[in-house]
Amino acid sequence: MNNIDEIHQTVTGWIREAADHIRSEINEQLSVKVKTTPNDLVTNLDFETEKFIVSKIHATFPTHKIVSEEGFGDDVTDMSDSIWFIDPIDGTLNFVKQKENFCIMLAYYENGIGKLGYIYDVMKDKFYHVIRGEGAYCNNKQIKPILKRGLSEGLTALNSKLVSQHQNNAIKNILSNTLGLRLYGSAGIEAIEVISSRTVAYVASNLKPWDFAAANIFAEEMNAKLTDFNNQPIDLLKPCKIIIANQKAHEEIINIFKQS
Ligand code: IPD
Ligand code: CA
Ligand code: CA
Repeated sequence: MNNIDEIHQTVTGWIREAADHIRSEINEQLSVKVKTTPNDLVTNLDFETEKFIVSKIHATFPTHKIVSEEGFGDDVTDMSDSIWFIDPIDGTLNFVKQKENFCIMLAYYENGIGKLGYIYDVMKDKFYHVIRGEGAYCNNKQIKPILKRGLSEGLTALNSKLVSQHQNNAIKNILSNTLGLRLYGSAGIEAIEVISSRTVAYVASNLKPWDFAAANIFAEEMNAKLTDFNNQPIDLLKPCKIIIANQKAHEEIINIFKQS
């Protein structure tokens, strides 16, 4: 299968099937394990979802490589050839505690170029996808061009680690300039809020490749900016601090980091 639209149709089917499984199991007894800290959790459904998507990729694209969170992927050291990034459940803490506000994320790159990205808010049934050169969509409706609004004209999301560093001058300045702070607890949903112009920026420390690989393709297609705190392009294979924002808010945040 080479045609990108055909791959898109196939992948959409996988994600919808995985989401049906999550919805059918969400009220059953979950097996919840702590990974590193009490707020870093993994459940049987994270494992099952990743295993399911990995098995589909292996069966359909046996030569493709996989970067994924829960250990069913490959050890990928460079961006050559075809690579899939999987976050089976992004926002696992929300998933366990709220049973909503989490998403399935998938991204497909060819030789370092993002071709397809997916962020599916499972419980709200909002299916976001992007196809390079064909636009970004929510439930198959094209997303409007991103609004170029500054920090003082909109809402800004941070991850909780950054909020706890509110003594840090840069974070203090972001907080004092924004119209309002939001914390969603899912990097995927936070990225999609920026892409949909419902927030102006999302700033996060210590994200992993599967947390931002799909967002990066949405950002490229929508002319948003996704960089690290020093305005450098991100390395898709390394943990990273990221800013995803419309161009105006991004410039303001970069200036805040430079001056702080
Ligand atoms: C986490 C969420 C969270 C972010 C963390 C991520 P996970 O992903 O996206 O919002 O602050 O850094 O690790 O573990 O729920 O897939
Ligand atoms: Ca996850
Ligand atoms: Ca994640």
